[in-house]
Amino acid sequence: MIPQDTVQKVIDTADIVEVVSDFVSLQRAGTNYKGQCPFHNERTPSFIVSPAKQIFKCFGCGEAGTPISFLMKHEHLTFPEAIRWLAKKYNIEIEEKELSAEEIATMQERESVLILNAFAQKHFSENLSDTEEGQTIAYSYFKNRGFTDETILKFQLGYSLDSRSSLLYSAVNKGHKAEMIEKAGLVIEKQPDAITKIISGKQKYYDRFRGRVMFPIHSLSGNVIAFGGRILRADKNMAKYLNSPETIVYHKRNSLYGIFFAKNEIVKQDKCYLVEGYTDVISFHQAGITNVVASSGTSLTEDQIRIIRRFTRNLTLIFDGDSAGQNAAIRGVDMVLQEDMNVRVIPLPEGEDPDTFSRKMPLSELKEFIETNEKDFIIFKTQLLSTDQQSDPIKKSEAVKDIVKSISVIPDQFKRDAYIKETSTLLNIKEEMIFDEINKILKKEQRNQNKTQYQTTPTEKKTPKIPDFIDETALPEEKQLIYFLLKFGSRVLDKVDEPENKETVAEFIINEMESENGFRNVVYQEIFEFYKSEFDEKRDVNSALFLNHQIDKIRDTSIDILSNEHTLSKIWTKNGNVIETPEDSFSKDVEKTIIAFKLRIIELYIKKNAEQLNDPNIEEASIETLMRQSIEAQKIRKHLMDIGGKRNIYG
Ligand code: CTP
Ligand code: MN
Repeated sequence: MIPQDTVQKVIDTADIVEVVSDFVSLQRAGTNYKGQCPFHNERTPSFIVSPAKQIFKCFGCGEAGTPISFLMKHEHLTFPEAIRWLAKKYNIEIEEKELSAEEIATMQERESVLILNAFAQKHFSENLSDTEEGQTIAYSYFKNRGFTDETILKFQLGYSLDSRSSLLYSAVNKGHKAEMIEKAGLVIEKQPDAITKIISGKQKYYDRFRGRVMFPIHSLSGNVIAFGGRILRADKNMAKYLNSPETIVYHKRNSLYGIFFAKNEIVKQDKCYLVEGYTDVISFHQAGITNVVASSGTSLTEDQIRIIRRFTRNLTLIFDGDSAGQNAAIRGVDMVLQEDMNVRVIPLPEGEDPDTFSRKMPLSELKEFIETNEKDFIIFKTQLLSTDQQSDPIKKSEAVKDIVKSISVIPDQFKRDAYIKETSTLLNIKEEMIFDEINKILKKEQRNQNKTQYQTTPTEKKTPKIPDFIDETALPEEKQLIYFLLKFGSRVLDKVDEPENKETVAEFIINEMESENGFRNVVYQEIFEFYKSEFDEKRDVNSALFLNHQIDKIRDTSIDILSNEHTLSKIWTKNGNVIETPEDSFSKDVEKTIIAFKLRIIELYIKKNAEQLNDPNIEEASIETLMRQSIEAQKIRKHLMDIGGKRNIYG
C-alpha cells in the first residue's frame, strides 16, 4: 500500500492544468484554461480548468473535481491507481509499506504473470508480422475477415505458431521460469508419462496455443490478462476458441472482452452494447461504434453486470435474431433487471451476428438500424409471446408467468407499474391479474427468505431481513452509521460492556452490519462495500477516497454526509451551546446507533408480519410460520430494548 505522506506529496505536486492537458487540449482564457469537455459531447467549450484553485469544472454537464478525481473519472482508475499514475508522471517514488512475505509472493506472482502476458502478446504479434507462417496463414485470415491493419494493431491481434514450444523457448530464453509461464496459463505441464518422456526427452511443458490467431483479453486498465485463440479452419474435433485458464490475474466471471477500449465511450454515450464474441466487438469498433463489450460466449455473470454498472445503467443486447440466438441472449437478463438497469435488445436478421452484420453496411446505416430496432427488453419478450404463443393457452400461461417473473425482480416500483400497464395492454390481460401474479411471487420470495433465515440461525440474535421493497427512507440510522464510518472509521472504539475488546469503529460497524445483511439503502450499501474492500486491503481508509470517488452517487452522498455533520450528531448542541462534540462521544454514539438501527428493523419486521397475519387472503399453511416468526421477533425486540435502555439510546 501507499504510505499517507507519499499520497500527500502526490496531491501537493500534481498540477491540474498539466494533468488535464494530457487528455484535453486546453486554451488559455484569462487566468483560466478552457477546452472541450471530455465527459459529454459539446460543440462550444464549457470545460474550465483553474490553476489557482487547482480544480476543473464543466459548465455544461456539471462535472468538477481535482487532478485525482479527473483521472478516476476519465481513466476509470481507483484512488490508489490514480495516485500511482500521478507519482509516475511526477517521478515521485512510492515507497511501499512493508509487506508480509506472503503478500510479496502474491504481488510478485501477479506482476510476473502480467509481464508474461505482455511478453506473449508481443511474441504473438511478431509472429503475425514477421514470420512467413504468420503472414501467409494468419495475416491473410484477418484480411479475409475484413480487419484493417489499424484494427489488428489496436486490438493487438497475433498468431501462435504451429509449434509445441515456440513461446516456451523464447520466454525461457528471456529468463522466465517455466513454472511461472505455466501459472500464466501460456504453457501446459505434461503429465508424467513414460512414453512421452522417451519420445520428447526431458521437456515437461508445451505451448497451450498452437496454430491459432490470438485475441488478447485486456483488463479495465489495459493490461493483457488472458488470450482467446481461434483455429483457422473449421474442424469438428477441435474447439473453435481456446481460452486461457483461470489465473491469478484472469477470472472469466469478472472480465469483459473489450472493456478497456470501450469504457470511455460507454460513459460518454451512457450506454453499453453487449455482444457475444471477440469478432463482434472488433467489427463494431472498426465500423465506428466503440461502446461495446462481449461476455465471451456465456450469459452474463453478476460480476460482469457490476462492472458495466460502474459506467452506465443502460445495457443493450445485440444478438442473432434466430430463436437459438434469442434464447441465449435472453437467459440471465433477470439478473440485470434486478440490478436496476435498463435493458434493451436489438435482434439482428436471422443468421447474422454483429460481426457479419456490421460489415455489410456503412456506419450511418448501421446506426440507423440500431436506432430503429432497439426495443425495451420486457416489451420485446412480451411481443415475442404475443406473436408466437398467443394461440396455445398452456404456452401462453407459461410465458405470461415468465414475463411477470422478469417484472417482479425490478427494484423500482414505478418502473414495475409502468411495465404492468404496458404488458397488460399488449397481452390483453387485466392489470389486476398481473399485479396478483407479481404479489404472489414477491410473497413467496419473502417467505423463502424468512425460512432460510430462521433455519440457519435459529437462536442467534439476528434481525430478520426486511423485504427490499420496504421504504429505505424509514431508516435514518443508516445515514448516521455511514457518517461514523467515514468520519471515525479508523479510531478505536471504547466499548461500554467490553472495554478490553479493542476494535476500530470500522471493524465494529462492518461486523455488525454484515450480520444484519448490510444496509437497505442501495447507495449506503455501495459506500459500505467500497469501504470494506479498501479496508480489507489496508485497514486505514481515508475519507478523501469517498469525496473523490468516481461514482457520482458515492461522491455526492459522502460530501452530503460529511458536510452536514451537525444534523447527524444530535448531541452536538443543547440549547444552542456546544456541550459535547462528536469527537468526545463517538464511541457511545456508534454503539447506540447500531442498537437503534436493529430496533428499527425489528419493529418494521413485526409490523410487516402483523399486516400479513391480518390479510384476509392469508394462506392457511403460512399462519403458523408467521406466528412463530412474530414471537421470535418480539423476543429479539425485548432484548434490544433492554440493552438500549441501559445505553440510554432514547436520551
Ligand atoms: N467461445 C469460446 N469457446 C468456444 C466457442 C466460443 O470461448 N469453443 C466464445 C468466444 O469468446 C467467442 C464467443 O464465444 O467469441 C462467441 O462464439 P461464436 O459466435 O461461435 O464465435 P464468433 O465470435 O462469431 O467467432 P467467429 O466469427 O470467428 O466464428
Ligand atoms: Mn462470428
